[in-house]
Amino acid sequence: MPSYIIEGGRRLEGEIDVSGSKNASLPIMAATILNKGVTKLYNIPQIRDTRITQQILKFLGCKVKKNNGKIEINSRNINKKEIPEELMHQMRSTVILAGALLGRFKEVRFSYPGGCDIGARPIDLHLESFKKLGINIEEKSGFIVCRCDKIKGANIDLDFPSVGATENIILASVYAQGVTKISNAAMEPEIVDLANCLNKMGANIEGAGTNVIKITGVKKLKDISYKVMPDRIEAGTLLCMVAATSGNIKLNKVISEHISPIINKLRESGCNIEELEDSIYLQAPKKLKAVDIKTMPYPGFPTDMQSVFASMLTTAKGTSVIIENIFENRYRYIPELKRMGAKCTIEGKTAIITGVRKLSGTTVTSTDLRGGAALVVAGLTAKGKTKIKNIEYILRGYENLDKKLQKLGAKIYIEEGE
Ligand code: EPZ
Repeated sequence: MPSYIIEGGRRLEGEIDVSGSKNASLPIMAATILNKGVTKLYNIPQIRDTRITQQILKFLGCKVKKNNGKIEINSRNINKKEIPEELMHQMRSTVILAGALLGRFKEVRFSYPGGCDIGARPIDLHLESFKKLGINIEEKSGFIVCRCDKIKGANIDLDFPSVGATENIILASVYAQGVTKISNAAMEPEIVDLANCLNKMGANIEGAGTNVIKITGVKKLKDISYKVMPDRIEAGTLLCMVAATSGNIKLNKVISEHISPIINKLRESGCNIEELEDSIYLQAPKKLKAVDIKTMPYPGFPTDMQSVFASMLTTAKGTSVIIENIFENRYRYIPELKRMGAKCTIEGKTAIITGVRKLSGTTVTSTDLRGGAALVVAGLTAKGKTKIKNIEYILRGYENLDKKLQKLGAKIYIEEGE
Protein backbone atom coordinates (compact mmCIF):
# COMPACT_ATOMS: atom_id res chain seq x y z
CA MET A 1 0.00 0.00 0.00
CA PRO A 2 1.63 3.30 -1.03
CA SER A 3 2.36 6.14 1.41
CA TYR A 4 3.10 9.87 1.16
CA ILE A 5 6.39 11.04 2.64
CA ILE A 6 6.33 14.76 3.46
CA GLU A 7 9.14 16.99 4.74
CA GLY A 8 7.07 19.73 6.44
CA GLY A 9 7.59 23.35 7.40
CA ARG A 10 7.97 24.77 3.88
CA ARG A 11 5.92 27.76 2.70
CA LEU A 12 3.89 26.86 -0.43
CA GLU A 13 3.66 29.39 -3.22
CA GLY A 14 2.90 29.36 -6.94
CA GLU A 15 0.14 28.76 -9.49
CA ILE A 16 -2.02 25.65 -10.04
CA ASP A 17 -4.85 24.63 -12.40
CA VAL A 18 -7.75 22.90 -10.63
CA SER A 19 -8.78 19.53 -12.13
CA GLY A 20 -12.28 18.51 -13.23
CA SER A 21 -14.82 17.66 -10.53
CA LYS A 22 -14.90 14.06 -9.24
CA ASN A 23 -18.44 14.52 -7.90
CA ALA A 24 -19.74 15.91 -11.18
CA SER A 25 -17.86 13.36 -13.36
CA LEU A 26 -19.43 10.32 -11.67
CA PRO A 27 -23.13 11.17 -12.29
CA ILE A 28 -22.32 12.59 -15.74
CA MET A 29 -20.52 9.37 -16.74
CA ALA A 30 -23.60 7.49 -15.48
CA ALA A 31 -25.79 9.76 -17.63
CA THR A 32 -24.05 8.52 -20.80
CA ILE A 33 -25.90 5.21 -20.29
CA LEU A 34 -29.12 7.05 -21.17
CA ASN A 35 -27.85 7.98 -24.65
CA LYS A 36 -27.95 5.04 -27.11
CA GLY A 37 -24.98 6.53 -28.89
CA VAL A 38 -21.63 8.25 -28.28
CA THR A 39 -20.98 10.89 -25.63
CA LYS A 40 -17.67 12.75 -25.41
CA LEU A 41 -16.65 14.08 -21.96
CA TYR A 42 -13.79 16.50 -21.26
CA ASN A 43 -11.98 17.53 -18.05
CA ILE A 44 -12.63 14.17 -16.35
CA PRO A 45 -10.03 13.81 -13.54
CA GLN A 46 -7.87 10.70 -13.84
CA ILE A 47 -8.43 9.29 -10.36
CA ARG A 48 -9.41 5.91 -8.96
CA ASP A 49 -13.13 6.73 -8.71
CA THR A 50 -13.45 7.69 -12.37
CA ARG A 51 -11.41 4.61 -13.35
CA ILE A 52 -13.77 2.34 -11.38
CA THR A 53 -16.76 3.98 -13.10
CA GLN A 54 -15.19 3.35 -16.51
CA GLN A 55 -14.64 -0.30 -15.55
CA ILE A 56 -18.33 -0.63 -14.68
CA LEU A 57 -19.41 1.01 -17.95
CA LYS A 58 -17.22 -1.46 -19.86
CA PHE A 59 -18.67 -4.36 -17.80
CA LEU A 60 -22.14 -3.21 -18.87
CA GLY A 61 -21.12 -3.32 -22.55
CA CYS A 62 -20.11 0.28 -23.23
CA LYS A 63 -17.09 1.00 -25.41
CA VAL A 64 -14.88 3.48 -23.53
CA LYS A 65 -12.03 5.33 -25.22
CA LYS A 66 -9.78 7.40 -22.97
CA ASN A 67 -7.24 10.02 -23.90
CA ASN A 68 -6.03 11.82 -20.75
CA GLY A 69 -8.99 13.87 -19.45
CA LYS A 70 -11.08 13.13 -22.56
CA ILE A 71 -13.38 10.10 -22.43
CA GLU A 72 -15.57 8.86 -25.29
CA ILE A 73 -18.37 6.52 -24.17
CA ASN A 74 -20.38 4.49 -26.71
CA SER A 75 -23.43 3.13 -24.88
CA ARG A 76 -25.18 1.69 -27.94
CA ASN A 77 -24.75 -1.99 -27.00
CA ILE A 78 -25.23 -2.26 -23.26
CA ASN A 79 -26.04 -5.93 -22.57
CA LYS A 80 -26.02 -6.11 -18.76
CA LYS A 81 -28.26 -4.45 -16.20
CA GLU A 82 -26.32 -5.13 -13.06
CA ILE A 83 -23.53 -3.37 -11.19
CA PRO A 84 -20.70 -5.81 -10.33
CA GLU A 85 -20.58 -6.46 -6.58
CA GLU A 86 -16.82 -6.07 -6.11
CA LEU A 87 -16.83 -2.65 -7.81
CA MET A 88 -19.98 -1.59 -5.92
CA HIS A 89 -18.23 -2.30 -2.63
CA GLN A 90 -15.20 -0.26 -3.61
CA MET A 91 -17.20 2.89 -4.24
CA ARG A 92 -20.57 3.82 -2.75
CA SER A 93 -21.32 6.38 -5.41
CA THR A 94 -21.69 3.59 -8.01
CA VAL A 95 -25.31 3.54 -6.79
CA ILE A 96 -25.75 6.46 -9.23
CA LEU A 97 -25.53 3.96 -12.11
CA ALA A 98 -28.74 2.35 -10.83
CA GLY A 99 -30.79 5.43 -11.72
CA ALA A 100 -29.30 5.56 -15.20
CA LEU A 101 -29.86 1.83 -15.90
CA LEU A 102 -33.43 2.14 -14.62
CA GLY A 103 -33.99 5.20 -16.77
CA ARG A 104 -32.99 3.33 -19.91
CA PHE A 105 -33.85 -0.33 -19.25
CA LYS A 106 -36.36 -0.14 -16.35
CA GLU A 107 -34.36 -2.76 -14.50
CA VAL A 108 -31.17 -2.99 -12.46
CA ARG A 109 -29.55 -5.37 -9.94
CA PHE A 110 -26.94 -4.23 -7.43
CA SER A 111 -25.64 -5.01 -3.95
CA TYR A 112 -25.67 -2.64 -1.00
CA PRO A 113 -22.95 -0.05 -1.72
CA GLY A 114 -19.66 0.30 0.17
CA GLY A 115 -17.30 3.30 -0.11
CA CYS A 116 -15.51 5.56 2.40
CA ASP A 117 -16.32 4.70 6.01
CA ILE A 118 -17.77 8.05 7.03
CA GLY A 119 -21.06 6.80 8.37
CA ALA A 120 -23.92 4.48 7.58
CA ARG A 121 -24.61 6.17 4.23
CA PRO A 122 -27.87 4.28 3.56
CA ILE A 123 -29.70 4.51 0.29
CA ASP A 124 -33.22 4.56 1.74
CA LEU A 125 -34.04 7.91 0.10
CA HIS A 126 -32.93 6.51 -3.28
CA LEU A 127 -35.10 3.39 -2.93
CA GLU A 128 -38.17 5.22 -1.59
CA SER A 129 -37.90 7.62 -4.54
CA PHE A 130 -37.65 4.76 -7.04
CA LYS A 131 -40.82 3.25 -5.55
CA LYS A 132 -42.65 6.58 -6.04
CA LEU A 133 -41.64 6.40 -9.72
CA GLY A 134 -43.50 3.08 -9.98
CA ILE A 135 -40.43 0.85 -9.68
CA ASN A 136 -40.74 -2.49 -7.81
CA ILE A 137 -37.88 -3.16 -5.42
CA GLU A 138 -36.92 -6.59 -4.10
CA GLU A 139 -34.10 -7.32 -1.70
CA LYS A 140 -32.75 -10.86 -1.74
CA SER A 141 -29.50 -12.21 -0.24
CA GLY A 142 -27.81 -8.80 -0.10
CA PHE A 143 -28.85 -7.80 -3.60
CA ILE A 144 -31.39 -5.21 -4.62
CA VAL A 145 -33.42 -5.89 -7.77
CA CYS A 146 -35.40 -2.97 -9.24
CA ARG A 147 -37.75 -3.31 -12.20
CA CYS A 148 -40.97 -1.95 -13.73
CA ASP A 149 -42.87 -1.85 -17.03
CA LYS A 150 -42.72 1.91 -17.26
CA ILE A 151 -41.43 4.76 -15.12
CA LYS A 152 -44.17 7.23 -14.33
CA GLY A 153 -43.36 10.82 -13.33
CA ALA A 154 -44.19 11.56 -9.66
CA ASN A 155 -43.95 14.23 -6.96
CA ILE A 156 -41.07 13.33 -4.63
CA ASP A 157 -40.44 15.24 -1.41
CA LEU A 158 -37.00 14.29 -0.02
CA ASP A 159 -36.70 14.05 3.79
CA PHE A 160 -33.12 15.27 3.38
CA PRO A 161 -31.59 17.12 0.37
CA SER A 162 -29.49 14.08 -0.55
CA VAL A 163 -27.09 14.74 -3.44
CA GLY A 164 -27.05 11.13 -4.63
CA ALA A 165 -30.79 10.63 -4.30
CA THR A 166 -31.47 13.86 -6.23
CA GLU A 167 -29.11 12.71 -9.01
CA ASN A 168 -30.61 9.21 -9.11
CA ILE A 169 -34.18 10.57 -9.40
CA ILE A 170 -33.12 12.85 -12.27
CA LEU A 171 -31.39 9.97 -14.12
CA ALA A 172 -34.34 7.60 -13.65
CA SER A 173 -36.86 10.27 -14.77
CA VAL A 174 -35.28 11.48 -18.04
CA TYR A 175 -37.42 9.09 -20.17
CA ALA A 176 -40.33 8.78 -17.68
CA GLN A 177 -43.93 9.20 -18.72
CA GLY A 178 -45.04 12.64 -17.53
CA VAL A 179 -43.37 14.99 -15.08
CA THR A 180 -41.30 14.29 -11.97
CA LYS A 181 -41.02 17.06 -9.39
CA ILE A 182 -38.40 16.84 -6.64
CA SER A 183 -39.01 19.03 -3.59
CA ASN A 184 -36.25 19.60 -1.01
CA ALA A 185 -33.80 18.67 -3.78
CA ALA A 186 -30.04 19.03 -3.22
CA MET A 187 -28.71 22.29 -4.70
CA GLU A 188 -25.03 21.38 -5.12
CA PRO A 189 -23.24 22.69 -8.28
CA GLU A 190 -22.65 19.06 -9.35
CA ILE A 191 -26.44 18.68 -9.75
CA VAL A 192 -26.48 21.75 -12.01
CA ASP A 193 -23.61 20.28 -14.06
CA LEU A 194 -25.48 16.98 -14.46
CA ALA A 195 -28.66 18.80 -15.52
CA ASN A 196 -26.75 21.03 -17.98
CA CYS A 197 -25.17 17.95 -19.55
CA LEU A 198 -28.47 16.06 -19.78
CA ASN A 199 -30.32 19.09 -21.20
CA LYS A 200 -27.59 19.43 -23.85
CA MET A 201 -28.31 15.77 -24.71
CA GLY A 202 -32.00 16.68 -25.15
CA ALA A 203 -33.47 16.04 -21.70
CA ASN A 204 -35.93 18.49 -20.13
CA ILE A 205 -34.81 19.43 -16.61
CA GLU A 206 -35.74 22.71 -14.93
CA GLY A 207 -34.75 24.18 -11.56
CA ALA A 208 -31.41 22.43 -10.99
CA GLY A 209 -29.52 24.44 -8.36
CA THR A 210 -32.76 25.27 -6.53
CA ASN A 211 -34.64 23.04 -4.07
CA VAL A 212 -37.40 22.26 -6.58
CA ILE A 213 -36.40 20.38 -9.75
CA LYS A 214 -38.81 19.41 -12.53
CA ILE A 215 -38.01 16.66 -15.06
CA THR A 216 -40.36 16.25 -18.04
CA GLY A 217 -39.86 12.88 -19.75
CA VAL A 218 -38.53 12.90 -23.34
CA LYS A 219 -38.27 10.16 -25.96
CA LYS A 220 -34.67 10.32 -27.10
CA LEU A 221 -31.28 11.87 -26.35
CA LYS A 222 -28.52 12.73 -28.79
CA ASP A 223 -24.73 12.49 -29.10
CA ILE A 224 -22.95 15.49 -27.57
CA SER A 225 -19.66 16.52 -26.06
CA TYR A 226 -19.51 18.12 -22.60
CA LYS A 227 -16.85 19.66 -20.38
CA VAL A 228 -17.20 18.85 -16.68
CA MET A 229 -17.03 21.67 -14.08
CA PRO A 230 -13.92 22.29 -11.96
CA ASP A 231 -13.58 20.42 -8.66
CA ARG A 232 -14.68 22.85 -5.92
CA ILE A 233 -13.44 20.57 -3.13
CA GLU A 234 -9.99 20.19 -4.65
CA ALA A 235 -9.91 24.00 -5.02
CA GLY A 236 -10.81 24.47 -1.35
CA THR A 237 -8.33 21.80 -0.30
CA LEU A 238 -5.42 23.46 -2.15
CA LEU A 239 -6.31 26.87 -0.69
CA CYS A 240 -6.25 25.41 2.83
CA MET A 241 -2.96 23.59 2.23
CA VAL A 242 -1.31 26.85 1.14
CA ALA A 243 -2.95 28.86 3.94
CA ALA A 244 -1.71 26.36 6.52
CA THR A 245 1.89 27.04 5.40
CA SER A 246 1.51 30.88 5.42
CA GLY A 247 2.00 30.79 1.65
CA ASN A 248 0.31 32.21 -1.44
CA ILE A 249 -1.30 30.69 -4.50
CA LYS A 250 -2.98 31.64 -7.76
CA LEU A 251 -5.59 28.94 -8.39
CA ASN A 252 -6.78 28.77 -12.04
CA LYS A 253 -9.86 27.19 -13.68
CA VAL A 254 -11.95 27.60 -10.54
CA ILE A 255 -15.52 28.96 -10.15
CA SER A 256 -15.25 31.10 -6.99
CA GLU A 257 -19.02 31.24 -6.37
CA HIS A 258 -18.91 27.44 -5.89
CA ILE A 259 -16.56 27.90 -2.92
CA SER A 260 -17.78 31.17 -1.42
CA PRO A 261 -18.39 29.65 2.05
CA ILE A 262 -14.78 28.42 2.07
CA ILE A 263 -13.47 31.79 0.84
CA ASN A 264 -15.47 33.61 3.53
CA LYS A 265 -14.03 31.41 6.28
CA LEU A 266 -10.48 31.74 4.93
CA ARG A 267 -10.89 35.53 4.94
CA GLU A 268 -12.24 35.34 8.51
CA SER A 269 -9.12 33.40 9.50
CA GLY A 270 -6.93 36.21 8.12
CA CYS A 271 -6.25 35.32 4.48
CA ASN A 272 -6.24 37.98 1.81
CA ILE A 273 -8.24 36.64 -1.17
CA GLU A 274 -8.82 38.20 -4.59
CA GLU A 275 -11.49 36.67 -6.86
CA LEU A 276 -10.48 37.12 -10.52
CA GLU A 277 -12.25 35.98 -13.75
CA ASP A 278 -11.77 32.21 -13.39
CA SER A 279 -8.98 32.34 -10.83
CA ILE A 280 -8.50 33.02 -7.14
CA TYR A 281 -5.43 34.60 -5.55
CA LEU A 282 -4.81 33.82 -1.85
CA GLN A 283 -2.14 35.36 0.39
CA ALA A 284 -2.06 33.82 3.87
CA PRO A 285 -0.99 35.61 7.06
CA LYS A 286 1.93 34.40 9.14
CA LYS A 287 -0.50 33.07 11.72
CA LEU A 288 -4.16 32.15 11.00
CA LYS A 289 -6.94 33.05 13.42
CA ALA A 290 -9.33 30.42 14.83
CA VAL A 291 -12.80 30.33 13.21
CA ASP A 292 -15.99 28.31 13.82
CA ILE A 293 -17.40 25.99 11.12
CA LYS A 294 -20.82 24.35 10.71
CA THR A 295 -21.20 21.96 7.76
CA MET A 296 -24.49 22.29 5.84
CA PRO A 297 -25.94 21.26 2.49
CA TYR A 298 -25.02 23.63 -0.38
CA PRO A 299 -24.76 26.62 -0.33
CA GLY A 300 -23.54 26.13 3.25
CA PHE A 301 -20.00 25.13 4.25
CA PRO A 302 -19.37 21.74 2.55
CA THR A 303 -18.91 18.63 4.69
CA ASP A 304 -16.14 17.51 2.31
CA MET A 305 -14.07 20.49 3.47
CA GLN A 306 -14.58 19.91 7.21
CA SER A 307 -11.52 17.74 7.87
CA VAL A 308 -9.14 19.78 5.70
CA PHE A 309 -10.23 23.07 7.27
CA ALA A 310 -10.04 21.63 10.78
CA SER A 311 -6.52 20.39 10.13
CA MET A 312 -5.48 23.87 8.97
CA LEU A 313 -6.89 25.32 12.23
CA THR A 314 -4.77 23.07 14.48
CA THR A 315 -1.99 25.71 14.34
CA ALA A 316 -4.23 28.81 14.24
CA LYS A 317 -4.33 31.35 17.07
CA GLY A 318 -7.24 30.58 19.43
CA THR A 319 -9.92 27.91 19.71
CA SER A 320 -12.14 26.78 16.79
CA VAL A 321 -15.48 24.96 17.09
CA ILE A 322 -16.42 22.61 14.25
CA ILE A 323 -19.92 21.11 13.93
CA GLU A 324 -20.41 18.26 11.42
CA ASN A 325 -24.11 18.15 10.53
CA ILE A 326 -24.08 15.89 7.46
CA PHE A 327 -22.24 12.61 8.22
CA GLU A 328 -22.17 10.91 11.58
CA ASN A 329 -18.62 9.59 11.49
CA ARG A 330 -16.45 12.22 9.88
CA TYR A 331 -13.91 12.82 12.69
CA ARG A 332 -11.86 9.62 12.26
CA TYR A 333 -8.82 11.69 11.24
CA ILE A 334 -8.73 13.57 14.59
CA PRO A 335 -6.85 10.87 16.60
CA GLU A 336 -4.19 10.89 13.86
CA LEU A 337 -3.82 14.68 14.13
CA LYS A 338 -3.48 14.37 17.91
CA ARG A 339 -0.53 12.01 17.38
CA MET A 340 1.12 14.96 15.58
CA GLY A 341 0.55 17.20 18.59
CA ALA A 342 -2.83 18.75 17.69
CA LYS A 343 -5.12 19.68 20.59
CA CYS A 344 -8.66 18.50 19.73
CA THR A 345 -11.58 17.11 21.67
CA ILE A 346 -14.73 15.61 20.16
CA GLU A 347 -18.18 15.84 21.76
CA GLY A 348 -20.74 14.14 19.47
CA LYS A 349 -21.05 16.23 16.28
CA THR A 350 -18.69 18.90 17.66
CA ALA A 351 -14.90 19.05 17.48
CA ILE A 352 -13.08 21.69 19.55
CA ILE A 353 -9.63 22.61 18.26
CA THR A 354 -7.18 24.65 20.37
CA GLY A 355 -4.38 26.05 18.23
CA VAL A 356 -0.82 24.92 19.02
CA ARG A 357 2.42 26.54 17.89
CA LYS A 358 3.56 23.66 15.68
CA LEU A 359 2.73 20.06 14.82
CA SER A 360 5.45 17.39 14.70
CA GLY A 361 5.89 14.90 11.90
CA THR A 362 5.29 11.19 12.58
CA THR A 363 3.67 8.17 10.88
CA VAL A 364 -0.11 8.45 10.49
CA THR A 365 -2.79 6.47 8.62
CA SER A 366 -5.53 7.73 6.29
CA THR A 367 -9.03 6.62 7.26
CA ASP A 368 -10.99 8.00 4.30
CA LEU A 369 -10.63 10.38 1.35
CA ARG A 370 -11.06 13.77 3.03
CA GLY A 371 -9.61 12.57 6.34
CA GLY A 372 -6.49 11.59 4.40
CA ALA A 373 -6.33 15.05 2.82
CA ALA A 374 -6.44 16.52 6.33
CA LEU A 375 -3.32 14.52 7.21
CA VAL A 376 -1.55 15.97 4.16
CA VAL A 377 -2.37 19.49 5.42
CA ALA A 378 -0.87 18.56 8.79
CA GLY A 379 2.23 16.99 7.23
CA LEU A 380 2.87 20.11 5.14
CA THR A 381 2.93 22.36 8.23
CA ALA A 382 4.53 19.93 10.71
CA LYS A 383 8.17 20.12 11.79
CA GLY A 384 10.14 17.18 10.35
CA LYS A 385 9.02 14.17 8.33
CA THR A 386 5.49 12.74 8.14
CA LYS A 387 4.61 9.39 6.59
CA ILE A 388 0.94 9.01 5.62
CA LYS A 389 -0.10 5.39 5.06
CA ASN A 390 -3.11 4.06 3.07
CA ILE A 391 -3.09 6.90 0.59
CA GLU A 392 -5.25 5.02 -1.99
CA TYR A 393 -8.12 6.75 -0.19
CA ILE A 394 -6.57 10.10 -1.15
CA LEU A 395 -5.73 8.97 -4.69
CA ARG A 396 -9.48 8.24 -5.18
CA GLY A 397 -10.36 11.90 -5.16
CA TYR A 398 -7.35 14.13 -5.88
CA GLU A 399 -5.65 14.07 -9.29
CA ASN A 400 -1.83 14.27 -9.11
CA LEU A 401 -1.94 15.90 -5.66
CA ASP A 402 1.77 15.19 -5.01
CA LYS A 403 2.80 16.78 -8.33
CA LYS A 404 0.64 19.85 -7.71
CA LEU A 405 2.14 20.28 -4.23
CA GLN A 406 5.69 19.76 -5.55
CA LYS A 407 4.99 22.56 -8.05
CA LEU A 408 4.13 24.79 -5.06
CA GLY A 409 7.45 23.94 -3.39
CA ALA A 410 6.39 21.10 -1.09
CA LYS A 411 8.75 18.22 -0.40
CA ILE A 412 6.33 15.30 -0.90
CA TYR A 413 6.66 12.00 -2.70
CA ILE A 414 4.91 8.63 -2.95
CA GLU A 415 6.69 5.66 -1.37
CA GLU A 416 5.40 2.40 -2.85
CA GLY A 417 5.41 -0.80 -0.81
CA GLU A 418 4.24 -2.77 2.17
C1 EPZ B 1 -22.29 13.17 -2.13
O1 EPZ B 1 -22.43 11.96 -1.40
C2 EPZ B 1 -20.80 13.31 -2.38
N1 EPZ B 1 -20.32 12.18 -3.16
C3 EPZ B 1 -20.07 13.34 -1.03
O2 EPZ B 1 -18.68 13.53 -1.30
C4 EPZ B 1 -20.59 14.53 -0.22
O3 EPZ B 1 -19.98 14.52 1.04
C5 EPZ B 1 -22.12 14.42 -0.07
O4 EPZ B 1 -22.74 14.30 -1.37
C6 EPZ B 1 -22.70 15.62 0.65
O5 EPZ B 1 -22.39 16.79 -0.05
C7 EPZ B 1 -20.49 12.19 -4.50
O6 EPZ B 1 -21.07 13.10 -5.06
C8 EPZ B 1 -19.95 11.01 -5.25
P1 EPZ B 1 -25.88 12.54 0.44
P2 EPZ B 1 -23.88 11.32 -1.16
O7 EPZ B 1 -26.79 11.54 -0.18
O8 EPZ B 1 -24.73 11.52 -2.35
C9 EPZ B 1 -27.71 10.58 4.34
C10 EPZ B 1 -16.41 13.06 -1.15
O9 EPZ B 1 -15.64 13.13 -0.20
N2 EPZ B 1 -28.51 9.77 3.41
O10 EPZ B 1 -26.14 14.00 0.24
O11 EPZ B 1 -23.70 9.97 -0.63
C11 EPZ B 1 -26.28 10.14 4.32
O12 EPZ B 1 -26.11 9.04 5.19
C12 EPZ B 1 -17.78 12.47 -0.94
O13 EPZ B 1 -16.18 13.45 -2.33
C13 EPZ B 1 -29.53 8.97 3.91
O14 EPZ B 1 -29.77 8.94 5.10
O15 EPZ B 1 -24.39 12.28 0.01
C14 EPZ B 1 -25.54 11.35 4.79
O16 EPZ B 1 -25.57 11.38 6.21
C15 EPZ B 1 -17.99 11.97 0.49
N3 EPZ B 1 -30.24 8.20 3.05
C16 EPZ B 1 -26.38 12.50 4.23
O17 EPZ B 1 -27.66 11.95 3.91
C17 EPZ B 1 -30.01 8.21 1.70
O18 EPZ B 1 -30.72 7.50 0.95
C18 EPZ B 1 -25.77 13.12 2.99
O19 EPZ B 1 -25.77 12.17 1.99
C19 EPZ B 1 -28.98 9.03 1.21
C20 EPZ B 1 -28.25 9.81 2.07
